[in-house]
Amino acid sequence: MMNRSIVSIADYSREQIERLLERTAEFEREPNHPHLLEGRVVATLFFEPSTRTRLSFETAANRLGARVIGFTDPKVTSSSKGETLKDTIKMVSNYADVIIMRHRLEGAALYASEVTDVPIINAGDGSNLHPSQTMLDLYSIWKTQGRLDDLNIFMVGDLKYGRTVHSLLMSMRRYNPTFHFVAPKELEMPEEYKLYCRKEGIRYVEERVFTEESIADADILYMTRVQRERFTDLMEYERVKDTYILRADMLGRCRENMRILHPLPRVNEIEQDVDDSPHAYYFQQAQNGLYAREALICQALGIE
Ligand code: CP
Repeated sequence: MMNRSIVSIADYSREQIERLLERTAEFEREPNHPHLLEGRVVATLFFEPSTRTRLSFETAANRLGARVIGFTDPKVTSSSKGETLKDTIKMVSNYADVIIMRHRLEGAALYASEVTDVPIINAGDGSNLHPSQTMLDLYSIWKTQGRLDDLNIFMVGDLKYGRTVHSLLMSMRRYNPTFHFVAPKELEMPEEYKLYCRKEGIRYVEERVFTEESIADADILYMTRVQRERFTDLMEYERVKDTYILRADMLGRCRENMRILHPLPRVNEIEQDVDDSPHAYYFQQAQNGLYAREALICQALGIE
């Protein structure tokens, strides 16, 4: 079935990405358009916990005049009685005009998009992809750097399970980036993404060190949380969880326009004193999520 689902933005052209960025900027200038989605129903199905993604999608829907239905805990739905994802999606398709879904299984959003004509927006599927996060990340990079081309992007922390870094890496392939993958051995960027970089001609280096000197030529420092919930062996989590911690005193040599991004939530990987640095951008980045998600809901509904 063909529909306007947003499962991944890895294959979007420069024109498609740039149009979404421009729309996001329009929503930043004026977030309230209470008649744009009047009469529409947006469903948010969160099979995994979320603060930013769900609340910003729901705020986006509200600011555009839609009604919102959904759940934040699958235990209160009939999936706890054994209902399949397919049947849940088919049921919600009877009620909503667009379905925003987060699920623990990789490929769940793609599967959902194949069993309904109602557009699905992937709000994160396991360790795979998180396209709406990627749109707000691209917008944050574009806004702070004035371009997406030719940037030196450091990705730090959990590169194995981090769907935000996987998604961002793929969506930047048309912008000639140089990636620095900074991770402990246990959380290295998976081979499939390194293979993707080689195939697409994307430069990358893998590093273990994380010091004031090593980050001095970064344009973007993309920090990530080590995700306890993805580990089967909690001893391994304890071993690696605090490998990289960014402190304010590490920012003395960095480029003036360098910005620190983080999809959030953070745990220990950015010390609180970094929040006061002019390089810290993660709270504004999360705010950009509202505008990017207004643009994405409109895109999924085919609203120009
Ligand atoms: N960045 C992000 O996905 O945050 P939430 O898990 O709070 O939605």
